[in-house]
Amino acid sequence: MKRFIFSVTIGLMLLVSTGAQAQAIKPAMKMKRPMMITKAVAVLHPTQGNSVEGIVQFIQTPNGVRVIADVSGLTPGKHGFHIHQYGDCSSPDAKSAGGHFNPTHQPHGAPDAPKHHIGDLGNLEADDNGKAHLDRVFPFLRLAGPTGIIGRAVIIHSGEDDLTSQPTGNAGKRVACGVIGIAKSQAPKMMK
Ligand code: CU
Ligand code: ZN
Repeated sequence: MKRFIFSVTIGLMLLVSTGAQAQAIKPAMKMKRPMMITKAVAVLHPTQGNSVEGIVQFIQTPNGVRVIADVSGLTPGKHGFHIHQYGDCSSPDAKSAGGHFNPTHQPHGAPDAPKHHIGDLGNLEADDNGKAHLDRVFPFLRLAGPTGIIGRAVIIHSGEDDLTSQPTGNAGKRVACGVIGIAKSQAPKMMK
């Protein structure tokens, strides 16, 4: 009888412990749906000797990525505006950001040309006060995935991108750089 009680007790203990184990494993096994990233942001900082700064927002829409840029401290006129390969603004001239983001191996061009780098966003145009505003949807941009721009850098140049010269559009020095990161506030679900 004692032995019987003993084995029943052990059996119960085993049951309880395996049950507890299953309970403990369950939350870790449960796969959460991956977060859909719908908004990214880059804060632009001036390169050495410049005073260009601003914020660029990237919002995923059904038709591509809507880019909203607000930049100040520019000379009046057009300035090359690109996404460069590396999210690395560490060097004083921002050369650390590498060349134009070009995962599809295309020549440099205008964003609405048949062929262009994925990072080719054309020009920003600054007014007499050195301020530029742009709000435009780029159908070829993606926030995430193989051609995703998160983790890359936004660069603004001292001069105009002529949209034809290879491989950079001859836009001159880099006057501001910012890394594209996941934004805290995500875009509304029904955003168009
Ligand atoms: Cu550039
Ligand atoms: Zn380019």
